[in-house]
Amino acid sequence: MRRDLLRGASDRTASSYDERFGEQQRVKFATALGRHPLPEGLLLDAGCGTGLIGAAAPDRSWIGVDLSRAMLRRAAGRGFGAVQADLDALPLATGAFAAAVAFTSLIDRESWDPALPELARVVRPGGLVLVTVLTHDVPGPPDVAGLALIDRFECGVDVGFAFSRL
Ligand SMILES: C[S@@+](CC[C@H](N)C(=O)[O-])C[C@H]1O[C@@H](n2cnc3c(N)ncnc32)[C@H](O)[C@@H]1O
Repeated sequence: MRRDLLRGASDRTASSYDERFGEQQRVKFATALGRHPLPEGLLLDAGCGTGLIGAAAPDRSWIGVDLSRAMLRRAAGRGFGAVQADLDALPLATGAFAAAVAFTSLIDRESWDPALPELARVVRPGGLVLVTVLTHDVPGPPDVAGLALIDRFECGVDVGFAFSRL
C-alpha cells in the first residue's frame, strides 16, 4: 500500500486502536516474549503503533518507529522515544539495539524486504529480531544475510518468527 495511504489509515485508527486491538496484541506479546525473552539493552519497536508493548515490558527502554504521528504521540505518552520513519529505511545506527520487534507491522506490503534487512542492520550481533504477521500475510520471511531463523510459532491470530542476529 502507498505510504501516504497507510499513514492516513494509521492516523485515523490511533484513537480507537487500544480499545479495538489491545487484548489481541497482548496475547501476541505474551506468547512471543514467553518463548523469546528480550535481551538486556535498548529495544526497537518497529511499527510501534500506540506503544502497547511498553505495558508488557515497562521496565525496558524502547525506541518506537512508526509512519503515523498520531500513533507516535500515544507511544511517546507511554515513555517511548518516538521516531517517525519508514521501516524500509530506518534512520537509526547500525548495531544500536539489543533486539527489534515488529508485531503486526509488516502489513499491506508485497514483501518483507527491505524492512527485515533493515531490522537486521540495526540489531547488534547476538541480538534478537522478533516479527509477527497476520496469517493471511505469510508467505514466510526472505533469507536475510546476518539473520538465522530460530523459531516459527503460532502467536494469537498471527504467525511469529524469531531470528538471531549473527
Ligand atoms: C497493526 S499496527 C501494530 C502496532 C503495534 N506493533 C502493536 O502491536 O500494537 C501496525 C503499525 O505499523 C505501522 N506501519 C506499517 N507499515 C509501516 C512502515 N512501512 N513504516 C513504519 N510504520 C509502519 C502502522 O502505522 C501501524 O501503526
